Amino acid sequence: MAEQEVERHLMVVIGGTGDLMERKLLPAMRRLTERGALHGKVVLLASGRRTSFDDESYREWAREALEAAGMPVDAEDSNWCDRCLHYQSVGDQQPEDFARLQQRIEELEREHDLPGNRIFYMATPPGAFIDTVERLGEAGLSEGPGWTRVVIEKPFGHDLDSARELNARIHRHFREEQIYRIDHYLGKETVQNLLTFRFANMLFESVWNRDRVAAVEVLVAEEIGVGRRGEFYDGVGALRDVVQNHMTQLLSLTAMEIPVEFAADAIRDEKVKVLRSLAPIDPSQVVLGQYARGEVAGEPVPGYTEEEGVAEGSTTETYVALRTYISNWRWQGVPFVLRTGKRLGEKRTQITIHFRCPALALFRAHAQATVHANTLVITLQPDEGFDLCFEVKEPHDPLRLQTHSLRFRYEDAFPELPDAYETLLVDVAQGDQALFVRADEVEHSWRIYTPLLAARSKVYPYEAGSMGPAEAERLLPPTGEVCPL
Ligand code: BG6
Repeated sequence: MAEQEVERHLMVVIGGTGDLMERKLLPAMRRLTERGALHGKVVLLASGRRTSFDDESYREWAREALEAAGMPVDAEDSNWCDRCLHYQSVGDQQPEDFARLQQRIEELEREHDLPGNRIFYMATPPGAFIDTVERLGEAGLSEGPGWTRVVIEKPFGHDLDSARELNARIHRHFREEQIYRIDHYLGKETVQNLLTFRFANMLFESVWNRDRVAAVEVLVAEEIGVGRRGEFYDGVGALRDVVQNHMTQLLSLTAMEIPVEFAADAIRDEKVKVLRSLAPIDPSQVVLGQYARGEVAGEPVPGYTEEEGVAEGSTTETYVALRTYISNWRWQGVPFVLRTGKRLGEKRTQITIHFRCPALALFRAHAQATVHANTLVITLQPDEGFDLCFEVKEPHDPLRLQTHSLRFRYEDAFPELPDAYETLLVDVAQGDQALFVRADEVEHSWRIYTPLLAARSKVYPYEAGSMGPAEAERLLPPTGEVCPL
C-alpha cells in the first residue's frame, strides 16, 4: 500500500525449491522486475535441503519453473536469472548449515554491494517454518547490518494455544515490526479495494450499518477438490484452511470502523476491534459438509474420502456455513453469514450486502408490484467487480418492478490485475505491514473458532458440483428477498 522507495536488499527464500517458489514467488519476482518495481533492488538467495544444486543448476531449475508458469524465458530473463539468482543448501538445518548460510549471505552482499537489508521468506511446507525461524535466530540472523524482515505463510497455528505458542516462539527472535504474516487474500487487488470502496466513497458509509443492512454474506466457493494436498487437508479441514484466515479477513475489512489514518497499525487496530466484538458462535448456527462424488464443470469427480491421502471414513469438513454476529454499535443484530466449500458448482468469492426493505409498504395497492430488497454484490474473483442491485419500474401499466444493477467490472477499466504475491512482495520490500496479519489478529481469530473445532459433530455429505448440503440453507440470507407489502 505504501509508496516508499524500495531499498536494495537480499531476499533469502527458505524452501526455495518448493511449490510456492515455483508457482508463485519466482513468477511474481520476474513480473516485478519486468515492471521495474524491484528492478535492480533485489538479489535472491534460494535455500533448501537439496545439496545437489549449485547456482548454475538452480538457475536452470528456475528457468524451467518460469516456462512452466507460462513465462517463456528470453535472453533478458536469462540475464536476470544469471545476475540475481543464487542457491545455498541448508541441508538438515544443523547449526553449521546456518553458519554457512550466513557466510554466503555476507559474501553475496559484498559481491552485489548490498547495504545489508535482508528478507527471510519462509516458503517451507505448512507448519515447518517455526524451526527455521528459530535456527535463524540462534545463528544471529534476526538482526543484520541493515533491516531484517521475516515472511511467514499460513497456517499460523491450528488453534488458539498453538497460535499463541507460535507467536511467542517467533517473538523470542524477531520483533513484531519485523514479521510479515501472509494471508494471500489481503494481496488481492479486489480485497484491498474494499477499503477504498468504503472510505473513499461518501455514498456507502452512511448505509453501512444495522439501520440499513439486514445481513452480510461472505462466500468463498471453489470448484477444485483437495488435489494432491489430501493428506495435509485431512488434518485441517475448511474451518481452519479458509474460514479462520481468508474469510475472517474479508469479514473484518467489511465490518471495520474508519481507521484514523491509512496506515498499517491504524488499519490493523480496527480489524482487531471487529474480532474482539465477534460474539461466540452458536454451534447450532454452523453446518459442516463433505463432498461426495459428483460432476464439476461437466467432469465426474471422486468424493472426498476417495481422494489420495485422505483417511478412510474421514469426517473432515470440506464445507462450512455459519452465522456470526458482531456485538458493536454498528452491527448489533446483523447476521454475517460465512460460507465456503470445495467441489462446489462454481468458483466464486463474493461479499453480498443485503439491505433492508423500504420502511413503507407503499405499493400495497398494486398486487403485481413485488419489491425486492437492494443488494450490493462485491465480486472478488473471478469477474471482479461490483453490482448494486435496485428496483426499476417496468414501462407501461400495471405497476410492475424489475431488479436491475449498476455494474462495474475491473477488466473494463484495468486490463491487468497484479497477482497477490506481486503486491505482497513489494510491500515487504517497502516495509509496509498493512496487508499482513498482526500477532493479535491471529490470536483473536483463533479465539473465535477454537471452540467450534471441539464442537464439530455432524458433517453432511453434499454432491460435488452442488452448492453444498441442503441443511445449510436455513443459515443463508434469502436471495432476492421479497419485501412484505
Ligand atoms: C489457500 C487454501 O489458503 O487458499 C486452499 O489452503 C484454497 O485450500 C486457497 O484453495 C484459495 O485461494 P484462492 O486465491 O484460489 O481463492
